[in-house]
Parts: sequence; structure tokens; C-alpha cells
Amino acid sequence: MNETVEIRRATAADAETLSKIGWKSFYEAFADHPKNAPEDMKSYMDEAFSLEAISNDLADPDAIYFVAEIEGQMVGYTKLKQNSREDCVSGDKPLELCRLYSLKEYIGKGIGKALMLKSLEFAAENGHDFFWLGVWEFNFRAQDFYRKFGFEKCGEHVFQLGSDPQTDWVFERKI
Ligand SMILES: CC(C)(COP(=O)(O)OP(=O)(O)OC[C@H]1O[C@@H](n2cnc3c(N)ncnc32)[C@H](O)[C@@H]1OP(=O)(O)O)[C@@H](O)C(=O)NCCC(=O)NCCS
Repeated sequence: MNETVEIRRATAADAETLSKIGWKSFYEAFADHPKNAPEDMKSYMDEAFSLEAISNDLADPDAIYFVAEIEGQMVGYTKLKQNSREDCVSGDKPLELCRLYSLKEYIGKGIGKALMLKSLEFAAENGHDFFWLGVWEFNFRAQDFYRKFGFEKCGEHVFQLGSDPQTDWVFERKI
């Protein structure tokens, strides 16, 4: 990719853009999948990516957002969460990677890698010993991406998409 990707920590001023990019990138990633009913997508997205939900997140000291920008335009983001774990997760001070999204036209162009490297740097700098995430059992591209960065499956949990209790695989890696 010729364009330079800038990664920076999000602030309260990013709430509106993050709400839009969060909504769009989730829709682009999952709306076409036959297992995802439109009403379940809508119900989840209307809540998860509302301006209110994102603003609350940005005010939460345990939540950390990094955004990826090209020429000042947000093209991807990641959300991390401290003090969050599943039973199968190792370590005394794990960090959760809650979301990692690139807009569709930028997938495969290094945005995910840049955000992952920044997240790993944050984890190391803040004394986290393990990094973990939940990834949909049918999201094979993301699973492959995470394996490339050293993550391995340690368990499963439920991800509630509207009325649909979906199965996420829980992946972890040491920091
Ligand atoms: C997951 C996601 C953020 C990954 O980002 P990306 O932009 O596709 O990946 P990148 O271009 O940064 O790839 C980074 C590296 O992983 C490799 N890679 C990417 N996808 C891969 C795959 N499916 N299998 C193997 N390697 C892969 C790339 O070749 C690249 O390797 P390199 O550094 O040696 O060149 C992106 O695909 C995405 O937004 N997907 C839709 C949303 C989603 O599923 N999010 C995860 C929810 S849990």
C-alpha cells in the first residue's frame, strides 16, 4: 500500500466517527453471511455502535481504542479491554482484544497488522502477560490472521447477536 497508515489512541472527540466506522465495518464483515439474520444484525449493531455506547466506552478507563487513519480518514480500529478474562485464559494480567476491524476496501492491506502490532506494544508496555480474544467460529479469515500472530484456541464462549447465541472461539497468546 502506498498510503501511510497512522495509528493513534482514540479520544472522546472520535466517538461519532468511531460509531460510524464501527457500524460500517461490522456490517461489511458479517451482513452477507447466511447465518446472520438481518434483524439480529440490526438489533446488535443499533446498540453496540450507537453514539451513546461508543461514548461510554471511550470514558471507561478499562477500554482502549486505537484508530488507523490514512490521510486523516479513519479506515480501521481496535478496542482493547483491561480487567476482562474468560476461564480458559492464562496469566495474571490478561488483556482482551474486543474488536479489530478494517473497512472492507482496506482488508488485506496491512491495517489489521498495524493495529495488532500497536496492541501488542500496548500490552507489553502495560505489564499484561496474556492477550486474548473471541472470534466467531465461522470467521475463518480472522482466525487465520490471529494464528499468524501466534494466537491459539483455548476455549469457547457465547457471543449474543440479537436473539442468536453464536459460538466464538477464544484464542490467546503470551505477551
Ligand atoms: C481481521 C482483519 C482486521 C485483519 O486485517 P487485514 O487487513 O486483513 O490483514 P493485514 O493485511 O494487516 O495482514 C497482516 C498479515 O497477515 C496476513 N494475513 C491476513 N489475512 C490472512 C489470512 N486469512 N491467512 C493468512 N494470513 C493472513 C497478511 O498476508 C499479512 O502478512 P504479512 O505481514 O506477512 O504480509 C481484517 O481482515 C478485517 O477487518 N476483517 C473483517 C472484520 C473481522 O473479521 N474482524 C475480526 C473480528 S474477531
